[in-house]
Amino acid sequence: MKEQLEAIRKGALEAIGGAQDTAGLESLRVKYLGKKGELTAVLKQMGGLSAELRPVIGQLANEVRASVEKAIEAQSAVVSERALRARLEAEAVDVTIPGKKFPLGHKHPMYAVLDDMKEIFIGMGFEIFDGPEVEQAEYNFTKLNAPEDHPSRDWTDTFYLTEDSSILLRSQTSPMQIRAMETHGVPIRMISAGRVYRKDEVDATHSPMFHQIEGLVVDKGITMADLKGTLNTIIREIYGPNTQTRFRPHHFPFTEPSCEMDIQCHKCGGKGCPTCKGEGWIEILGAGMVHPKVLRNCGIDPEEYPGFAFGMGLERLALGQFKISDMRLIFENDVRFLEQF
Ligand code: DAH
Repeated sequence: MKEQLEAIRKGALEAIGGAQDTAGLESLRVKYLGKKGELTAVLKQMGGLSAELRPVIGQLANEVRASVEKAIEAQSAVVSERALRARLEAEAVDVTIPGKKFPLGHKHPMYAVLDDMKEIFIGMGFEIFDGPEVEQAEYNFTKLNAPEDHPSRDWTDTFYLTEDSSILLRSQTSPMQIRAMETHGVPIRMISAGRVYRKDEVDATHSPMFHQIEGLVVDKGITMADLKGTLNTIIREIYGPNTQTRFRPHHFPFTEPSCEMDIQCHKCGGKGCPTCKGEGWIEILGAGMVHPKVLRNCGIDPEEYPGFAFGMGLERLALGQFKISDMRLIFENDVRFLEQF
């Protein structure tokens, strides 16, 4: 029996020393020390031993159990240390490897221009209004004093949504003047930017959808001098303090008098070149003193509250500012183009 015990110890210690993981160690513990294990099996035979031998074998059996337990404990430490090291190695982070690039988008150049514009107007005390792109002809034309036979009312020019020509895709942001006066009342300083729609063929300078910025100021004592001062300030903020401007008489149904504002060509300095089509000047917006009829249509007394208004094309501003030659680039959203801004 002594030999049996020694054999168990030898076999157990060897097997334990070679165990590679916790699961292997556990099955060895069951194999040698478990209820049905080898050591237990030997102990069960102890009843047949003589009175002298029993304590001797008993003690040996205890020693064997103790040394097997100790070996399992020691190997368990080795195994888990080894597992930890393997994990650390597998999960090691090499901080010297260059990071992954996450491509980030940025503001579209035209909206960058719009945001600059809004900043400047807000700084001058203007409020920003938003309004519908699906508009009533009443607001897009009638209340803006556009006569029934005005060419822009024609079905060949404007996208109508109903047979009776009462609902349309707005052809200008000017209806926002009416909406702002109706909802806000006077005095008012507002701008409103957004999409407008016209039946135009696509080319380098036209698109059936484009953007406008509309502006309106109505207050006691407003004159043409306020119009010129405000617009000159805005344009010089955007194009630089030395930008030369001029105002030419024009006609719009909703303003009287009306004008267009030009800036001196930044390319040729006014001499005339392909950019300004030989003119030396580039037209950038329409403006004027709000027509008394328009004010009256909104319940405002033009004698007490005169006003001025203006409207400009946002794409054209962006084209000028970034020296882009074709408006289609603004809408195509080719990243090779957009990435340049
Ligand atoms: N709505 C005009 C257009 O689309 C632009 C315009 C001209 C707006 C004069 C105005 C203005 O407010 O006073 O051509």
